[in-house]
Amino acid sequence: MPFIDVKNLSVHDPVQQKDLVANITFSLQQQRCLAVIGESGSGKSTVAKALIGLIPSSLEVEGAIMFNGETLTTQTAEQWRGKRIGFISQDAMNAFNPIETIGHQMMETFQRHLGLQGKEGKAHAIAGLERVHLKNPNELLKQYPYELSGGMLQRVMIAITMMLSPDVIIADEPTASLDAYNRREVIMQLQRLKEETGAALIIISHDLGVVQAIADEVLVVHQGEMLEHRPADKVFTSPEHPQTKHLLETRRRLSAPLEALRQQQRVRAFPC
Ligand SMILES: Nc1ncnc2c1ncn2[C@@H]1O[C@H](COP(=O)(O)OP(=O)(O)O)[C@@H](O)[C@H]1O
Ligand SMILES: [Mg+2]
Repeated sequence: MPFIDVKNLSVHDPVQQKDLVANITFSLQQQRCLAVIGESGSGKSTVAKALIGLIPSSLEVEGAIMFNGETLTTQTAEQWRGKRIGFISQDAMNAFNPIETIGHQMMETFQRHLGLQGKEGKAHAIAGLERVHLKNPNELLKQYPYELSGGMLQRVMIAITMMLSPDVIIADEPTASLDAYNRREVIMQLQRLKEETGAALIIISHDLGVVQAIADEVLVVHQGEMLEHRPADKVFTSPEHPQTKHLLETRRRLSAPLEALRQQQRVRAFPC
């Protein structure tokens, strides 16, 4: 039995009278990583929100989402978020409360989901920060979100997810707001997250570098519909659909100048 089983997922907007996504069907085993790719507005975040049970009530959801044989409903989503279903968003800054320290927020999460109190919660938070290679964890716990860079906050979010050990992790554009250094760090941490938790990982990204580094399978969406769902290497070497080909070429073209710049910087940094 696949760990995640999505059948004919559609999300309809009755106001605009249109489907934001239609008939999305896929399954995923544990310890596998599925990347969802598609141009902006194609419905990727809508799929992610459906999987964590956060589609606004103004929209209509149809179809079935099962995790390990159990159906996701509004009630089960509420219970499962955090402990069973981890979510890593693009906007790490907004994921944290600006007026509470990182330590307070980490410990509160571990208390709520794992029942850890006081010293136990603090030790768990420090272990998490060490696992994502953040320096001076004791000091970091006392800091406020605005004192950390976007990349550091993203790694704190990964640390929290890692220490909750969910069965399923959904990451929506986790590297979109990061510079090259933090992007590489976050990709490495996501890979470890998958290996160490054994979770099924769904990563939404238009960053082909991320997708190639981490995905086992790729699902391509276009205007709310699924075009193909195949092993990642197959999608990259022989895209089936013309729209997939177009998407890969556009993305490669967009990232080419950046890659050239990085090469130049590398040459400058290591002239011999
Ligand atoms: N809450 C909402 N109500 C109505 N339309 C929405 C809502 N959220 C997203 N949409 C629309 O659904 C489509 C898909 O959006 P989204 O899933 O965010 O795309 P992506 O993440 O691929 O950029 C877009 O046309 C967007 O405008
Ligand atoms: Mg999106």
